[in-house]
Amino acid sequence: MNILIVGSGAREHAIAAALSRSPQKPNIFCYGTSVNPGIQQMTDDYWAGDITDVNRISKLAKEWQIHLAIIGPEAPLEKGLADVLWEVAIPTVGPKKRLAQIETSKSFARDLMLKYKIPGLPRYQTFYAMSGVEAFLHELGEGHYVVKANGLMGGKGVKVAGDHLQSFSEAIAYCKEILDAGQVLVIEEKLLGQEFSLMCFCDGEHMVPMPMVQDHKRAYAGDKGPNTGGMGSYSDANHSLPFLIEKDADAALRINKAVIHALSLELNDKFIGILYGSFIATQNGVYVIEFNARFGDPESLNVLTILESDFVTICQALVTGNLVADQVKFSRQATVCKYAVPQGYPDVSVKDVAIDVSAVKDQSHLYLSSVNAVEGKIFAMGSRTAAYVGVADSIFAAEEIAEKEICEIDGPLFHREDIGTKQLIQRRIDDMRRLREQ
Ligand code: AMP
Ligand code: GLY
Repeated sequence: MNILIVGSGAREHAIAAALSRSPQKPNIFCYGTSVNPGIQQMTDDYWAGDITDVNRISKLAKEWQIHLAIIGPEAPLEKGLADVLWEVAIPTVGPKKRLAQIETSKSFARDLMLKYKIPGLPRYQTFYAMSGVEAFLHELGEGHYVVKANGLMGGKGVKVAGDHLQSFSEAIAYCKEILDAGQVLVIEEKLLGQEFSLMCFCDGEHMVPMPMVQDHKRAYAGDKGPNTGGMGSYSDANHSLPFLIEKDADAALRINKAVIHALSLELNDKFIGILYGSFIATQNGVYVIEFNARFGDPESLNVLTILESDFVTICQALVTGNLVADQVKFSRQATVCKYAVPQGYPDVSVKDVAIDVSAVKDQSHLYLSSVNAVEGKIFAMGSRTAAYVGVADSIFAAEEIAEKEICEIDGPLFHREDIGTKQLIQRRIDDMRRLREQ
């Protein structure tokens, strides 16, 4: 069986690793942005190019006689790669363009929640011009709003009052900036609480959840510094998170299920792939921050590392509409993922610097990301470089492994030492308890 992976980051490295553990021994092909040697060593053929060039990818997929494709990142989903691949009879894990709007348009996602009365919707309004912006900001109140550019912005389009916006005038200036750039904007109520991710496999009708994960968006320890693609993440042995109560976990799954149902009614088509709900547990229950139409990065590294079932069988079930919960088993272990990123990341990353990962002891839990291999050497390209996933019976034991191994990577990189530590987890639990008691 020939399987194509689109994308070449750590998420796709983890996808390749999960596929190559399959007893079905598929032939793996990759079309990525750069040459990731971690993925390349598992593939029969590898092409580096523009991952949004859907016609080029489809042509190559036919040449490679691909039986099934898995799309990693959001950019090719937005360009309709899944539509094009299904048209040439290549079953694809990853939703078609219209269904991917659940991620690619924040206003589509919010409007869908409103129309289908899906719980967890904050107060929000969409704006196509400045008229009404000021009034809505004042209605929410100083310090209580979030301003979002509507489209895909690589995690950089959201500014939060108190964090990035210090006054109404700064908020108004940012709204103008978004509109001037030709974008639509969404303003919504700022939610307070603990964020978490719940990814689910979806075959268009049935949905099976993965373990819950908490990502860390800020660049530096103690949740300081600019927002990033995600500096690391952890999951617990019971597949919930230490600061969540059962009611929260149930609510998140119910919301994901309701979204899949709403999408099929609204668009009369099936969402096949991964629905990733980004949630926040607040004192008033679970709210939705956003939805993604793909595996999270780093969250996928946590869960795919402990996936015990045959990932090829799961993908086959997804594209044929035969997904059943029994097909999906994760080991009851905790995971901690830490990313090493270039000095200066995310704003002024050093680029094209050589790194050496040979001292990492267990290479099977090392996932390379924004790297390029040239003549046997690995170069960090400027975005997140490499991630290591520690797996153990407790989060703290997993953290010790991840910390030790990530330090073995040689190069001008840094990572967050606090992710998964007792101190940080306890702070999350205490913050959440305090909020619930208010
Ligand atoms: P997004 O790109 O929508 O995931 O937003 C990026 C980050 O902005 C999230 O991870 C949150 O930390 C923050 N954020 C987005 N929406 C809200 C909200 N309504 N309330 C509070 N924080 C938010
Ligand atoms: N963990 C953030 C993302 O995948 O978008």
